This record gives sequence, C-alpha cells and structure tokens, in this order.
Amino acid sequence: MGRKIRVGLVYGGRSGEHEVSLQTALSVARAFDYGRYELIPFFIDKQGKWRSGPPLTAPPESVERLALGAGGTGETSGGDALPATGASAIVPFVRGMLAEPEREGDGPAIDVMFPLLHGTFGEDGTIQGLFEMAGVPYVGAGVLASAAGMDKVIMKQLFRQAGLPVANFIHFTKYEWNRDRDGILAEAEERLGYPSFVKPANLGSSVGVSKARNREELAAAVEKALQFDRKVLVEEFVDARELEVSVLGNDEPRTSVVGEIVSSNEYYDYNAKYVDGKSVMIIPADIPPETAEEARDMAVRAFRAIDGSGLCRADFFLRRGDGKLLINEVNTMPGFTQFSMYPQLWKASGLSYPELLDELIRLALERFRERQSLKYGERE
Ligand SMILES: Nc1ncnc2c1ncn2[C@@H]1O[C@H](COP(=O)(O)OP(=O)(O)O)[C@@H](O)[C@H]1O
Ligand SMILES: [Mg+2]
Repeated sequence: MGRKIRVGLVYGGRSGEHEVSLQTALSVARAFDYGRYELIPFFIDKQGKWRSGPPLTAPPESVERLALGAGGTGETSGGDALPATGASAIVPFVRGMLAEPEREGDGPAIDVMFPLLHGTFGEDGTIQGLFEMAGVPYVGAGVLASAAGMDKVIMKQLFRQAGLPVANFIHFTKYEWNRDRDGILAEAEERLGYPSFVKPANLGSSVGVSKARNREELAAAVEKALQFDRKVLVEEFVDARELEVSVLGNDEPRTSVVGEIVSSNEYYDYNAKYVDGKSVMIIPADIPPETAEEARDMAVRAFRAIDGSGLCRADFFLRRGDGKLLINEVNTMPGFTQFSMYPQLWKASGLSYPELLDELIRLALERFRERQSLKYGERE
C-alpha cells in the first residue's frame, strides 16, 4: 500500500462566511478516511492570519478543536501566525508548508490543497492564485472560473454568450451611479419594472441583496449594495421556483438529480440560508422529467461557460408563469457541509459524501497533471 495522501484543509477566512467555513471544515474532516488520507489544518482567522498545525489523526470532535488544532493555543495567539498584510510573507509561508521540506522517502509536505472558504478571498480566485504561485494542486475551480463565478455581471454575460437564458438586468459602477443616478433609476424602471432585485456584483450568501418595490426602495437598495462592491446589478423580478443541480468533473462533468429550495422567507436571503434553518430542500424536485433534463444540460453548459473544473452548483429559476428555466448563478464553492444541497444531491444520485471527497481529490490531481504538462514558452 502506498503512503497516505496529504490534504491541506484551508478554512475560516476573512469573508463574512467564516463560521460557515468552519462548519464545512468540520463536516469534511469527519468524513475523510484517515486510513488513506492525512489532513493538515490551515486555519485563517478573521484578521486574515494563517495558522497551521500537526496533521489531524482522527476526526475532530468540534469546530473549536479544529480552530485550536491549527493554532495550538487558539484564535488570538500561537501557531505559525503571519501578519494579515503582505502577500510577500504569505507566499513563502504557503510554499514552505506545501512544497518543502522534502522529508526522507516521504515525498512533499502536501499533495493537494482543499480550500473550504466561501465568498471573498476564497471562492473568487484569490486563494486559487496563491496555490498556482506555490505550484500545488488544489480542489475545485481555477483562478478564472472562480473569479468569473463570483462576479454576477461577468457570469451572466458569459451565460448569455453561451446561449443560456438569464433574467434581464442592468449594471453600473459607483462612479456611474454618482454621476447619473436619475438616468440609472429611469433605465431600471423602464427596462426591468418593479419589483426588482438589487445585488452587489461580487458577493454571496445574499449579503447586500434587496428587493425594491418602488423608486425610493430602489435607490436605497443601490446605496446598500454599493457598500459591498463598486459594481452593482439590478435584475427584473422573476416569480419562480428555485432549482439546483450539482456538477462534478473536469472535461466530462457529470450532473446530479435536481433539487428544489423552498425558502422560509419571501426570498432566499441570508437568514433563510443560515439562521432560521427552516428552508426546505426537496430532493429530487417534483418537476417534469423534461425540465430536469433541461436543467442538467444547462448546468453543464454553465459550468463550461465559466471554464469550470472540479465542482459547481448551478442555480435556476423555474418561472411560474410559463415554466421557462433561467439560470441564476453558479457557485464554484457551494455550501459543502454534509447536509448542504451540493452533497445531498450527490447522495441522492448514488455518490456518498466520502466518495465525493475522493472524487474531488482525484479531479484536482488530474487537473494539476494536465496543467503541468503544458509548456510556458516555445523553447522549453
Ligand atoms: N431576479 C430575481 N427574482 C426573484 N428572486 C431573486 C432574484 N434574484 C435573486 N433572488 C432571490 O434572492 C436570492 C439570492 O440571490 P442570488 O442572486 O442567488 O445571490 P447569492 O449569490 O447571494 O446567493 C435567490 O436565491 C432568490 O431567492
Ligand atoms: Mg444564490
């Protein structure tokens, strides 16, 4: 039997989804087969400090253990802490943790990184760029797909180009808003009507998203969204059921059965997602087989449109009026606790949570090997 695969689990992070990430890490760290894998914890605290610790040898019993395990002494001190600023310090740190030292007969320190971060600095291509710089394989989408999947404007433009129907929208920057607020409000009213949905381009978990029913609310919603991003989009309201499909693979992505989210609130906001726990997942969704087939087909096209790899969850609107499917978004790092939609859809499709982890690691190594075989210039 070969040696164990060393997986670097990266969790926590500076984004608003820090706690969600810890829950994910706990779920993942409990599901890995410790006979075949060794897990090295990388905990990023809320200030952005990285900490690492000895390999986990058994499933951690709590989130607190997981945070402590990486730092030795807890959140505020100890561990191999780094200043939050200065990528120049982080790159050698990560490099050192990953590639060197070559232990005798033991191979490299880490075989593959598994980022379990959502939102800013996790799902947006930034940490993926760090792994590229460090020359280490990592699970999931690459830099481009992560960034494209995070920016709702770019994402929707790519979808349109791929012939996928999306809800109508307009978009503008803070600069443009400040220069021509009335013009933008008038355009939104004329093209999208009320109610409309206002969103910061780069965020997730419904943060900064609002529904506007009139001009006053629209202006307030834009001001709010602009606190989170310099780019904002306004979308027409779609009266719809919300469907989700899990995608897994690299060049030949597979799709799961279709699930439906029935929100506990008027729409699927942060509270409905994480706080009240009353939103319901229906797996498989009660929809006609043709609709399910179409959603799965669109999910693969959306994955390809952003140049996805590894995994993504594609989210759809099934419009009540005419039964038309529109793609809302893809998430390259979807909710990933054992109870989240992404793994649950796979479970219903015959792939267990531990099997899903195996497959994601395999796909990460496959993608890395393929990229390694590429030349960087004519002469090499
Ligand atoms: N155009 C829209 N029409 C109706 N509901 C919407 C629209 N856009 C978003 N929503 C609601 O808001 C939720 C969050 O919006 P979404 O674009 O998915 O952002 P996030 O990336 O934060 O999940 C959706 O799940 C849906 O319930
Ligand atoms: Mg969403």
